[in-house]
Amino acid sequence: MSTKCVEMKPKPFSLKMRILSALRRILDALTCVLFKLYYGTRGRKLPRINDDILKQPAIEVARKIRTREVSSLEVLNTCIRRIKETNPVTNYFIDNRFELALKEAKEADDLIRSGNLTEEYLEREKPFLGVPFTTKDSIGVEGLHFTAGITLRKHLRADKDADVIKLLKNSGAIIIGVTNIPEMCMWYETYNCIHGRTLNPYNTTRIVGGSSGGEGVMQAVGGSIFGIGSDIGGSIRMPAYFNGIFGHKPTRRAVSNEGQYPQLKNDDVNLYLCIGPMTRFAVDLKHIQKVISGDYAKKLDLDKPVDIGKLKVFYQFSNGAPLVSEVDPEIKQAMEKVVEHFQQKHNVVAEEKKIEWLKRSQAIWFTTMKNEVPFAAYIMENPSLLSNVIEIFKNILGLSGNTLIGLFVALTDHEKFDPESKKYRYFMEARDYLEEVFKNMLGDNGVFLFPTHPVPAPYHNQPMIRPMNFMYTAIINSLGFPATAVPLGLNSEGLPIGIQVVANFNNDRLCFAVAEELEKAFGGWVEPQSSEQRT
Ligand SMILES: *[C@@H]1O[C@H](CO)[C@@H](O)[C@H](O)[C@H]1NC(C)=O
Ligand SMILES: *[C@@H]1O[C@H](CO)[C@@H](O)[C@H](O)[C@H]1NC(C)=O
Repeated sequence: MSTKCVEMKPKPFSLKMRILSALRRILDALTCVLFKLYYGTRGRKLPRINDDILKQPAIEVARKIRTREVSSLEVLNTCIRRIKETNPVTNYFIDNRFELALKEAKEADDLIRSGNLTEEYLEREKPFLGVPFTTKDSIGVEGLHFTAGITLRKHLRADKDADVIKLLKNSGAIIIGVTNIPEMCMWYETYNCIHGRTLNPYNTTRIVGGSSGGEGVMQAVGGSIFGIGSDIGGSIRMPAYFNGIFGHKPTRRAVSNEGQYPQLKNDDVNLYLCIGPMTRFAVDLKHIQKVISGDYAKKLDLDKPVDIGKLKVFYQFSNGAPLVSEVDPEIKQAMEKVVEHFQQKHNVVAEEKKIEWLKRSQAIWFTTMKNEVPFAAYIMENPSLLSNVIEIFKNILGLSGNTLIGLFVALTDHEKFDPESKKYRYFMEARDYLEEVFKNMLGDNGVFLFPTHPVPAPYHNQPMIRPMNFMYTAIINSLGFPATAVPLGLNSEGLPIGIQVVANFNNDRLCFAVAEELEKAFGGWVEPQSSEQRT
């Protein structure tokens, strides 16, 4: 421990918190049965992926386009077909620019055929030339819907590209459309009053996560070659986890947040919110990260080789937080297998941790978010407490343009925020302390394995009973470290499970190396179960 950092222990939980914890468990157990009964045998299956090009890493697709093994136009048409056949089942895609994209694909093919630029030049300067990608409805793409799931913005379109889209376009990638999100990205279930609900491709009775939920589905079903999400409490990693793909929340400030909605007035948000890649293949993370980091990429040194055998590996099975579900035994087993793999294959003995402050993830995350985003003012015309309460009643009658969860979150805006209060300062100090604990543990070659989420994808609406389950991802936002959600196959019910891999600041490459290693060992993304092949 560094000298400035005296040991700080969390205070025990209050009686109120312990009672709440017990009540939540009971409610969860009781309603679990109801959800099971209700959703019982429902659900639809997707047509299977027929085009091999959708089962290849983005960098491989890029290479094939560059070397004219396949044209950008063919790849794009394949994506469009795939989106059109899967979207009616799972409702994840909300706006497209197919016409413009087809024109850009043709231009890319023409450029390659002209032979004006060498393959080496293209690989270096235009690494994603002709490769179709997608992003979420809260990241600006000129001319496309930019609603952020907010009914007031129903007719709004972006008048310019977000920085991240500009950078990807510069690398030759072709943006083809935007995907569904929860109202103002503020929940881990993808549902809003404009575009409706997005369904999990592994089982349509389950949620897809949020907020980059539509994008999680897009990648799981193979609708585009790669995706871009953003993450302030797990919004990349949760959908990646629920949809069995890879998702990376980069080191804080490693990617520009400019051009997202809501626009951030307070620079502090950039400590917690980060845009990052979502992919079917681990190998793509690093290459996309290199592009979207712009000048910051130098600091990430992404091409520096990683020796897995020299890594220090730490893990923790549970955060021990009172309002969060117990970690599912199948997730725990998957993590044990990962630990075993490191030992047997690389002779790396992982060390189990019991970091106590993780118990207080909830208080720390809410403290870091305090005052960052005034929710009510963004989602309601009149953000007063009275109209907020009226809106909740209207919602129950089915008359509101807001989601119920959105309105509940908005209620918290009316609580007075005092940055000088003892409680605020205590948990900000705790945050600083926990950051030090992690930095000291991780050093320059350590990774920390942690559940991405305690349970596999819940049923629709079930997150209301488990509102704090996103704390496994959220605490990493409060600390600012890079973290990759890594899929570890399907559980006994056919739902994806996985873990997240956390590293020290600017050590994103360690997350990527471990993601690639675990993909090799455990299979990575698996195509969602399909219906009979259609004729
Ligand atoms: C989806 O979940 C329901 C409810 O748990 C289950 O009955 C059904 O068999 C599952 N569907 C698939 C495709 O696994
Ligand atoms: C290739 O270079 C030639 C000569 O500079 C130019 O006329 C042509 O437009 C270029 N082709 C493409 C597709 O850029």
